[in-house]
Amino acid sequence: MFDPNVSLKEFNTFGISVKAAKFTKFGNLAELKSAFDIIKSNPMPFLILGGGSNLLLTKDFEGYVLKNELTGFSEQMIDSKTGILEVGAGENWHQFVLKTIENGWCGLENLSLIPGNVGASPMQNIGAYGVEIKDHFEFLEAFHIESEEIHRFSAQDCNFGYRESVFKRKLKNQYVITKVAFRLTKDFNAQTAYGAINDELKRMNILEPTARDVSNAVINIRQSKLPDPKEIGNAGSFFKNPVVPNEVAEKIKAKFPETPVYEVPGSDEFKKLAAGWLIETAGLKGHTIDNHGVHKKQALVLVNYGGATGKQIFDLSTHIIQTINEMFGVELEREVNIL
Ligand code: FAD
Ligand code: EPU
Repeated sequence: MFDPNVSLKEFNTFGISVKAAKFTKFGNLAELKSAFDIIKSNPMPFLILGGGSNLLLTKDFEGYVLKNELTGFSEQMIDSKTGILEVGAGENWHQFVLKTIENGWCGLENLSLIPGNVGASPMQNIGAYGVEIKDHFEFLEAFHIESEEIHRFSAQDCNFGYRESVFKRKLKNQYVITKVAFRLTKDFNAQTAYGAINDELKRMNILEPTARDVSNAVINIRQSKLPDPKEIGNAGSFFKNPVVPNEVAEKIKAKFPETPVYEVPGSDEFKKLAAGWLIETAGLKGHTIDNHGVHKKQALVLVNYGGATGKQIFDLSTHIIQTINEMFGVELEREVNIL
């Protein structure tokens, strides 16, 4: 079932050329179970791969790579306006969002054009433009590797936070997410507080936006600053926006009054800073070393212009962390999963 020595270049949006010792795709639960029977009989590390858009592969993967191709989509009305939409974990996220909009469902439009698969969306509680999946999440189902049973998780079980979930921490490598269900509504409630959306809607001459208009505005904004992985290798924001004690934010604000500082919902003690602003202010936006660097239009995105190794990009990220620490006393944390 596993193929030996498979190149992962086409399977990661950074376009890093490394190999997997063993590689397979699974399209149903029986195949997933068979794969783990093999892994258990000859244990080595394993990686569940979705769209490969939140990974940095720094070396050949000496283990099993399992590419998720679980499909499926169903929708069920639970009252006149609310529905539960269940989606296979291997479905493409953006195509799923477009389908919800096409079918008249509202809630996920701000999350348009995020690369990757539905199954990875709960891993880091994907978010953009003021919305996170936790806001519309109903439940997920996951294959428990040890018992080979399917377990169901509520939002509370997932322990969602900013780019966080229980699957990145306590339950890391214990489950394969097989299905995610969302609660969406037919009532459109535009989430346009994120300034750039309103500006873009104005530019589009739209006064009373529909969910599709908001989706289009988000797509336009994203295309204007985020590199398309088909053209330039990248994994979106490389670092999280740092959440720091109020005093740290105030100190930076006193020195740099234009620093963007955001409230942290539910906290009086912490503020969120914009890592992209810190990196740009440190003079690193557009910083290029041979074939890789910091994106010219968005300093939070590291890019592979072609042929860079994962190690080179990792080393650049270490240099950025050190520079930001020295200049602002803030420790950036990588958002991208390093392998
Ligand atoms: P992968 O990269 O394949 O996997 C990511 C991690 O999840 C790995 O650890 C993997 O083992 C694990 N995993 C994947 N699927 C499963 C599963 N079924 N079960 C268990 N573990 C699994 N993210 C945001 O939150 N907001 C953004 O706005 C955003 N913008 C982006 C823009 C660009 C241009 C790019 C390239 C990335 C962006 N990202 C963003 C990051 C990325 O798209 C998301 O994190 C996405 O959810 C990753 O999905 P994937 O299928 O590619 O996951
Ligand atoms: N900024 C700069 N210079 C830069 C980049 C940003 O000064 O080079 C400033 C902007 O001017 C703005 C602030 O930083 O004042 C925030 O920038 P932006 O709105 O572009 O968002 P971000 O904080 O850089 C976050 C997410 C993105 C998400 C967008 C939109 C994280 C780590 N990143 O980026 O998510 O799409 O907001 O909501 O939270 C991802 O996770 O991969 C990702 C792309």
